Amino acid sequence: MSLRIAIAGKGGSGKTTVAALLCRSLLAGQFKPLLAVDADPNSNLAEKLGIGVEQTIGDLREELRQNPDKKPAGISKNEWIEDRLNRSVSESAGLDLVVMGRQEGPDCYCFINHLLRHCLDKIGRQYAAVVIDNEAGLEHLSRRSNGQVEVLLVVANPTITGARTAARIMELVHSLKLDIGHCALVLNQSDRKLDESLQSEFKRSGLETLSRIPDDEVIRECERKNQPLLKLPDESKAAQAVAAMLEKIIAMRRENP
Ligand SMILES: Nc1ncnc2c1ncn2[C@@H]1O[C@H](COP(=O)(O)OP(=O)(O)O)[C@@H](O)[C@H]1O
Ligand SMILES: [Mg+2]
Repeated sequence: MSLRIAIAGKGGSGKTTVAALLCRSLLAGQFKPLLAVDADPNSNLAEKLGIGVEQTIGDLREELRQNPDKKPAGISKNEWIEDRLNRSVSESAGLDLVVMGRQEGPDCYCFINHLLRHCLDKIGRQYAAVVIDNEAGLEHLSRRSNGQVEVLLVVANPTITGARTAARIMELVHSLKLDIGHCALVLNQSDRKLDESLQSEFKRSGLETLSRIPDDEVIRECERKNQPLLKLPDESKAAQAVAAMLEKIIAMRRENP
């Protein structure tokens, strides 16, 4: 089964950075082919991966809505959508990217959304690993369009707001009874040990800290130069932390297959 990792957290907490660095480590660990899913409408995962995008799922959904009957003769609607979806995957060496784009629309989109979800799930199975960069509001998680998630990483900055958001995300996960193998906390831009009050605030989420990613000047430099994070040198402290985090995820997987 492909290793499916979803990333959630407040806007600006570092989800996309963690997603891109995780892709970097997965590729280095020969998890190929790898699929990255940008499920944040304010998407910038493509940039951080250095992949160009021609069509988002939102564009495809709109096209299907405007031309419900448009499909070549001789194939089913399912097959056609699958083909179109396959073609909306942007490719790079060992790494493919799907961008969800605009949010799902009103009820009239229901049928199309259902089809898209089904096909995306199917496509995901063809990969060694799938990394999903979700938006803050967890729309896709709550609509279950992430599919069956093996690991949910809740990314938070070491602040009271970060801790509260992490707790809220976990409330949602529990109330929706989402099928997630393992949930863990990733503290980003976190160089120092948390003080006691912050520690107890984070305890409320019930999450264990899987990784602490230091604040890293190299990441800011990449951003300034508009360079993809996939090329981050091994010396980067943040990249090292994410590589170590992936090792833990792989070990966790071995223990609980
Ligand atoms: N560990 C880090 N060190 C330095 N800068 C970081 C780190 N993590 C994130 N950033 C920066 O913080 C900003 C927000 O990160 P981003 O990953 O886009 O957050 P999100 O996807 O959660 O909105 C970006 O400018 C990013 O470069
Ligand atoms: Mg983001």
